[in-house]
Amino acid sequence: MLLWTKKLAIRLLATVMICNFMVCTFTGCGDQKESGEEKSPTGEVQKVQPTKEGEEDTPTPTSTPTPTEPEKEVRTDFYISSIDEKIPSMYEYWKEYFSIGIAITKGELLNDFKGELIVQQFNSMTCGNEMKPDALLDREATKSKGTETCPVLKFDSCDEMLSFCVDHNIKMRGHTLVWHSQTPDWFFMEGYSNKQDAVFASREVMLARMENYIRLVMEYVNTTYPGVVYAWDVVNEAIAPGDGGENGMRMSDSLWYQTIGPDFVEKAFEYARKYAAPEQKLFYNDFNTYEAAKRIAILELVNKIKDQGNIDGIGMQSHIGMSSPTLLDYEETIRKFGETGLEIHITELDINLDSNSEEDFMKEGTRYKRLFFTFKNLVDTGVANITNITVWGLTDEGSWLNKDGKRYPLLFNQVLETKPAFWGILMDEGIPLY
Ligand code: G3I
Repeated sequence: MLLWTKKLAIRLLATVMICNFMVCTFTGCGDQKESGEEKSPTGEVQKVQPTKEGEEDTPTPTSTPTPTEPEKEVRTDFYISSIDEKIPSMYEYWKEYFSIGIAITKGELLNDFKGELIVQQFNSMTCGNEMKPDALLDREATKSKGTETCPVLKFDSCDEMLSFCVDHNIKMRGHTLVWHSQTPDWFFMEGYSNKQDAVFASREVMLARMENYIRLVMEYVNTTYPGVVYAWDVVNEAIAPGDGGENGMRMSDSLWYQTIGPDFVEKAFEYARKYAAPEQKLFYNDFNTYEAAKRIAILELVNKIKDQGNIDGIGMQSHIGMSSPTLLDYEETIRKFGETGLEIHITELDINLDSNSEEDFMKEGTRYKRLFFTFKNLVDTGVANITNITVWGLTDEGSWLNKDGKRYPLLFNQVLETKPAFWGILMDEGIPLY
């Protein structure tokens, strides 16, 4: 009853918002629905789940065609309310290929409608911020109960998100253990000092802190929520060619590099392997991986760790633009990463679109469709073992990209309607491939 009342309230609110949204956004677009009009995904192209090449191609139409059945129409309405209508599931559609993930914050996940949509569309989850060191490290408890080499952690930021995954059979990418960003400066200082004149802890102390941090996170997650985390971003964004570090490593803003030295990445993977559950995959994750110099430096680094037996995959964040990188450059990186034999996760996909015109939304849909076409082709041809695609956010409204002005990078709008981008991922015939 309570949920129904909530739904009604949200529907009313959504109707008002849709009204505003449509007036501002789509004025002049002939086939947009009127506010209050009953929407139905008619004209829906039958969804045939792709099967990998070499496997028997047995499309399973949802209805048996009869000679009198009219020809299927190509979809023209891309803005379908996920609250009111049943829409196809992306993870179901791609399940023979890779899992489909969502990066989300706790506040959004615990919203009934967003939670429902996530359960329907995604089988992998990443915490947007809630599993990062600044969320888990408890300075007060560390000062009072920790030791110089062992901090104290708290998990209230991510507990509900992990429980959600348990309840809904969603797997979690653990993001992220060792990162220069969102790790408090005091963690690198003698006595965990946060004073201006604090001095760095020694390399030995920092190695011990790193090992204990990784151990504590993994022990907690793996005993409290066994089987939920299937992959860890062990090290995030350690390569920044030109920043002064050895072998293209980030140095100027990395306190990990400055306190431990360039082998901090290898050490992190060594500790991660030691404490991870046997089935958990260990990833190196970075952005702009399609930049040639960066790609080369990443390859050198991961190949070294691969030789040590401590890495299973490479994460390509993939915060991309509408035209840059070219799909050729992007694909080239996947091909090169594929040559390592490691798994590939597309960990943070979004498209930095700064316009909300109908035309640009369709172009965005095309770019998403071509990306997934590329992923599929690379898997089909055995070039790359791509096992997860994660989008960085649910709605345009909640995207991190809005910090630089309004952006429209994702698959759902603020009232949880699908955008052409969503249908592009489903390879819908209404979205042009070119
Ligand atoms: O929690 C504080 C809050 O107390 C304060 O009032 C508020 C004021 O600005 O800030 C809040 O922290 C913000 C935090 O997100 C939680 O909302 C930070 O300012 C903000 O910088 C932070 O942004 C996150 C960003 O990482 C920081 O590096 C984004 O949400 C998050 O989506 C983004 O995710 C990263 C990936 O982890 C790694 N790859 C790049 C990606 C995008 O930047």
